[in-house]
Amino acid sequence: MIPVCRIEDLPEGESVRIEIDDATPAIAVFHAEGGFYAVDDTCSHQDASLSEGYVEGCFVECPLHAALFDLRTGAPTCLPARRPVRTHQVDVLDGIIHVRPAVREEAVA
Ligand code: FES
Repeated sequence: MIPVCRIEDLPEGESVRIEIDDATPAIAVFHAEGGFYAVDDTCSHQDASLSEGYVEGCFVECPLHAALFDLRTGAPTCLPARRPVRTHQVDVLDGIIHVRPAVREEAVA
């Protein structure tokens, strides 16, 4: 588990980008609709940072072309994105948000 920040440092509607290492794509962590969510930071359409997007309910709007992603599933709900972004497990331990990065499929194969 990767520590991200304290709960009070990520107010609802905000997000933070975390970089873990060169082999792991950056992750965007969101506080949305009363919960914490983590998805790959890079939009599945082109090279935009979802942590710079606009949070609405449990969704984030990509800041570049406005594709909307469901933070619970990573699925896009409108074009131009067609592919989902990966989701990652989030846990809160002793007031600190932690992320467990999902294993990439190509890393397993
Ligand atoms: S880069 Fe995100 S919708 Fe185009």
